[in-house]
Amino acid sequence: MTDGNRSAFVTGANRGLGLEICRQLGVKGYKIFLGCRDIRKGQEALSKLTALGVADVTAIQLDATDSGSIAMALEAIGDAVKCLDVLVNNAGTFEEEWGTMPSALTVKEMRDTFDANFFGPFEIIREFFPLMLKSPAPRIVNISSDMGSLGNINNRESIVYGVMGPAYQSSKVAINALTTLFAKEVIDTNFKVNSASPGWCRTDMGTDDAPLSVAEGASTAVMLATLPDDGPTGEFFSSTRNGEGMEW
Ligand SMILES: NC(=O)c1ccc[n+]([C@@H]2O[C@H](COP(=O)([O-])OP(=O)(O)OC[C@H]3O[C@@H](n4cnc5c(N)ncnc54)[C@H](OP(=O)(O)O)[C@@H]3O)[C@@H](O)[C@H]2O)c1
Repeated sequence: MTDGNRSAFVTGANRGLGLEICRQLGVKGYKIFLGCRDIRKGQEALSKLTALGVADVTAIQLDATDSGSIAMALEAIGDAVKCLDVLVNNAGTFEEEWGTMPSALTVKEMRDTFDANFFGPFEIIREFFPLMLKSPAPRIVNISSDMGSLGNINNRESIVYGVMGPAYQSSKVAINALTTLFAKEVIDTNFKVNSASPGWCRTDMGTDDAPLSVAEGASTAVMLATLPDDGPTGEFFSSTRNGEGMEW
């Protein structure tokens, strides 16, 4: 599969990992649709990518919690390309204080987190599915987290064991479920749906204390966005493991 002439839509891409995923795909020749809640911030991010040598970028307004903006983003992208090859559901939020125990979490924190991290990605996949089915090699990458690995949450040996963010973690477990279910819907086709964990990396969300750079964090998502036709589907990979498999 050659990367030229392929298109990619990355949500929440005006900063952090989303911006870096756009950069890495852009330098491979992808036509980039850079998702942003605030179009002004999206245009600033677009200028940064252009300065870094990405030739073809369009900023697309999208708030993952707003059905109207999802519909308008689909219309704008559908007017620009015959098919969408790659969708990276990257936009995400961490609402609660670190260390909040599940019994102390408010229902609002849980709902707000699920609106952005689960219902948004679900609606985006659902709405963009027909445009992606027109691609000869569609790839969906859902950005999850090591903290969404059920196998790690209760594993005392895991780095994840010492952290607590129950709304965030539940939403990332849930998006992993979407990955397996959508992958199953298109199994035995060339449409691949996988989850990527960036690991803990240095962004506004990850803070400067994180061990991984944004480039390292973004690399697993980019690997999955550019999978060859014999690549995996319905699986979970992490930058913590240098892009190798992560237990669900
Ligand atoms: N950094 C880490 O260590 C780490 C680890 C594991 C997983 N992740 C995941 O990686 C993804 C990117 O995280 P990051 O570290 O790059 O975070 P970040 O620096 O906080 O950036 C988050 C991005 O998501 C956007 N966003 C938030 N809510 C949105 C919504 N409702 N609709 C559309 N866009 C929205 C933000 O837009 P605004 O600029 O408008 O706020 C921003 O562009 C997230 O899904 C996160 O959970 C990060």
